[in-house]
Amino acid sequence: MLELKTIDAKKQRVATLAVPVCQDGDLHTKKAIQALCATGLALPEFSGEKGQSIMLYDPPGLACRRAILFGLGKMEQVDGERLRHFAGACVKQVIDKELTEVALATPSAGPLGMDKAHVFSALMEGALLANHRYDAYRSEPKKTALKKIQLDATAGERKRFRALRQQTTVICAAVHQAREWVSMPANDKRPQELADRMTAAARKVKLKVQVLKETTLAQKRFGALLAVGQGSTSPPRLVVLSYNPAKAKRTIALVGKGVTFDTGGTNLKPTTGLGDMKTDMAGSAAVAATLLTVAQLKPDTRVIGLMPLAENMLSGNAIRPGDIITAYSGKTIEIGNTDAEGRLIMADAMAYAIETFKPDAVIDMATLTGACVVALGEKLAGLFTPNEEIADAILAASRHTHERCWRLPLPEDYKELLKSDLADTSNMSSSRWGGAITAALFLQQFAGDTPWAHIDIAGPASSKKGNAYCGPGGTGFGVRLLTDFIMNL
Ligand code: BES
Ligand code: ZN
Ligand code: ZN
Repeated sequence: MLELKTIDAKKQRVATLAVPVCQDGDLHTKKAIQALCATGLALPEFSGEKGQSIMLYDPPGLACRRAILFGLGKMEQVDGERLRHFAGACVKQVIDKELTEVALATPSAGPLGMDKAHVFSALMEGALLANHRYDAYRSEPKKTALKKIQLDATAGERKRFRALRQQTTVICAAVHQAREWVSMPANDKRPQELADRMTAAARKVKLKVQVLKETTLAQKRFGALLAVGQGSTSPPRLVVLSYNPAKAKRTIALVGKGVTFDTGGTNLKPTTGLGDMKTDMAGSAAVAATLLTVAQLKPDTRVIGLMPLAENMLSGNAIRPGDIITAYSGKTIEIGNTDAEGRLIMADAMAYAIETFKPDAVIDMATLTGACVVALGEKLAGLFTPNEEIADAILAASRHTHERCWRLPLPEDYKELLKSDLADTSNMSSSRWGGAITAALFLQQFAGDTPWAHIDIAGPASSKKGNAYCGPGGTGFGVRLLTDFIMNL
C-alpha cells in the first residue's frame, strides 16, 4: 500500500502528485518539480504559507493529471510535525475527492536541516495515519481509504528505508486499531466484549493472552476493580498481554485505564459530561495497541500490557460515596466520589502488575481527570513521575512523535489531601483544586518502590474535529509515544 518508488514526474502518468513548497526557498532538486513550484508561486492565491494549498490540473511539462502544491511556510520552521501535516492533509484531500491514490514528492532534507530518515518517517507517518476511516457503522461507507500511496525515493533510499517503511506501517496500523476501539460505541465494547476484541488482535501477532474474569478477580481480591464494575450487568475483566523475548534485558509493565463507559456512577455526571465517556477506555486501547506493535517490532525488552476493564454504571448494586473497599494491595479506600473510578481500577492493576511481573518500571496511561484537561487543554497529556530517567525518556519519545506531554509535579505535602477519617486513603481529594495532581498522588501509593510514571491523556485521547492526519473521534494518542519509548530503551 505504501511504496517507496522512483518517480519521474515528466514521464509517469501519476494521478495526483503532492508537492511541499516553502515560502522562502527551494525544497526540490528536480527541475520539473522546481518549475511546477514556480508556476504555483506565481499565482496570487499561493505563496507557500503554512497550510495553503492549490490544485493544478495537467501542469505543463509534467505527465501527472493533478498536482497539489502544499505550503510548509518558512524553511527554518519546518519540522517532522509539519511534514506529517503536509502528507496527512494531502491524503485527506485526495480521499475527499474520492480518488484512490497519491504520490508524494519528497523534499530534500538538507535545506530543512533534517536528516533523510526523519523526513521519510514523518512523511510516511502523516500519510498512513491520515489514510484511515472508521465506517463500520455506516450502511454505505461514504469514502474509502486510498489503495496506494507512493513516496518518491532514489534506488538507494528505497533500500535504506525499507525497514523504516515496514515499522511505520506496523505502528500506524496499531494507531488505527486504537482509534477504532476508542470511537466504537460503548454498547459494542462492554468489558467482556472489549476483552475479546483485544485478545483477538493480540493472538494474531502471537502475544501471550490472559483474561481474568470476575470469579478469579474475586478470588485474588481485586477489590477496587470489582467495586467499580459492580453496578454494571457486564462484570469487569483484567486483560494481560505479554511480549516475552528470549533474551530480555528488562521488563516494562504498561497499565491502561479501560472504563468502557463512565456515567460517574452514583455521583452521576451531568449530561454535558456524559457525551464522550465511551472514550474512557482510551488508555487501555493505547496500551493494547502498543503491545501489537511491540510483538511485531521485537525489541529486547519484555513488555506486559495490563488492561483493567469495567463499566462505571449506576444501579442498586453500584458503589456509594462513603463505601469502604479493600484494594488488591490490601489498602482500604474510602469512596469519596464514585466518579473518581479510574484511579481505583488502575490501583489494582498496578499492584498486581508489580507483584506478578516484578517490572523494572510501570508506566500507566489513563483518561484520568477533567482537571488535566483544564490545565493543559485538549492536545497535551500530563506526565507525572518522581523518576528523572523515565521522565527524560518519555519526554524524548514525546518530542519524536509529537504526542505532547508536559511534566507536572507530585508535591509531597499534597498527599494529605487524600486522607480519610476511616480508611487508609480516600479516592477523592479534600480540595477542589489540583485534581490531576491528587489523582496522580493517589496512584503513586500503589507503585511502591517500582519506578513509575503516569500519563493523563484525558485531553488528547479523542478529538471532536480531528487534525490533518486524524479524523474526528479517538486519536490513538499514546501508541506512538509508548512504542517509541520502548524501542529506544
Ligand atoms: N473519566 C473521567 C475523566 C475525564 C474527564 C476524562 C473529561 C475525559 C474527559 C474521570 O473518571 C472522572 O470523572 N474524574 C473526575 C474526578 C473527580 C470526581 C475527583 C473529574 O475529573 O472530574
Ligand atoms: Zn469518572
Ligand atoms: Zn473515568
